[in-house]
Amino acid sequence: MASEDEQSDESLAGAGVPTPAGAFPGGGELFRLDARVAHLNHGSFGAVPVPVARAQRHIAAEAAADPDAFFLGVGDRLADARARIAARLGADPEGIALVTNATEAAHLALDALGLTPDDEVLVTDHGYGTVVDAVARRARPVTVPLDPALPDEDAVRETVLAALTPRTRVAVLDQITSPTARIVAGPRLLADLAERGVTTVVDGAHAPGMLAAPLEGGPDLWFGNLHKWGYAPPGSAVLAVAPALRGRVPAPVPSWEDHRGFPRAVEYRATADYTGLLAAPEGLDLIAALGAERVRAHNSALAAHGAELLARLPGVTPLPGDDRLALRALRLPSRVARTKPEADALREEIMLRLGCRVLVWPWPGGGGIRVCGQIYNHPEEYERLARGLGSLLDGA
Ligand SMILES: Cc1ncc(COP(=O)(O)O)c(C=O)c1O
Repeated sequence: MASEDEQSDESLAGAGVPTPAGAFPGGGELFRLDARVAHLNHGSFGAVPVPVARAQRHIAAEAAADPDAFFLGVGDRLADARARIAARLGADPEGIALVTNATEAAHLALDALGLTPDDEVLVTDHGYGTVVDAVARRARPVTVPLDPALPDEDAVRETVLAALTPRTRVAVLDQITSPTARIVAGPRLLADLAERGVTTVVDGAHAPGMLAAPLEGGPDLWFGNLHKWGYAPPGSAVLAVAPALRGRVPAPVPSWEDHRGFPRAVEYRATADYTGLLAAPEGLDLIAALGAERVRAHNSALAAHGAELLARLPGVTPLPGDDRLALRALRLPSRVARTKPEADALREEIMLRLGCRVLVWPWPGGGGIRVCGQIYNHPEEYERLARGLGSLLDGA
């Protein structure tokens, strides 16, 4: 689907750029993605590997064959799935609940804190829209601006700490920011905030399956999607809660398990589709079977390769990258993607003309682009994006 408009600029085709090992053996065959498209945006919605989709279908077939047996036993099966997920994440199985997605988890986490409209809650301007909105519905968000070019995690930490006031009660921070691919809520910042008596809520939407120790630093409340980097079906996420707060997390749908409290009250929501959550452990098991370290190294190297190619385009500036992450972000020229409609239009143009899926994020003074690496990607896809984007941005 590459467009005729693509530059034939040989300099972009990898010269001088350390090319990662190439394709992850068998990686592409594990997914049923449209091969005409370069899927460089795993971070937005994830993708479900074939064995995980198959496991989900088997569970759905069981439910269809004997609905009574399935729904009468589903609470216990969720507890088993939770224990397997907890073991993979290094979490206490009684300290996590299986939920639908990061957005739902954010609402439940904030409800546990009994916020009032006068409470000051620290957020950053890299925070995810629906999560910051969840804060604004309950309390007074105080937004810390983080210069996307801040050199490292320490500089981010110092900027956040400098924004605290004596009225800051809670900090809602990303573990990995969505647009800019930065680590904010690292273990050192979490320890500093705890020392200052600030309750920490960590948006770890991207952490499961990407970070080796997603719960590192012991935040008071943490949530992460399994359906992004954890290879789980859509609608699979985890909310982790410190012991003192567990009894305060409300059930999203109070139902027959409500009297059992956290986590079962949160997980059981009457007659619903539980097949994704029940199949979710298969995703984390698959990563372990492939070699979690190997998957991480491959994904990070591919994303870095993509960022190096894009950084050669005039006016495109890489943001500090982190080897632990499978995504990288770059700023676009100053007249590009300044607003959401401009960013959305460029994202669609990149898809229509280059056949590449990427995230384009708006930012005053010039937005940015984010590329991801996943085991189904290969270096040529980033080369195609870089060549084509050069033409699209020409004259911007
Ligand atoms: C940092 C971050 N938080 C929250 C979310 C929301 O995830 P969900 O749509 O699963 O609720 C996303 C989704 O991309 C995200 O990147």
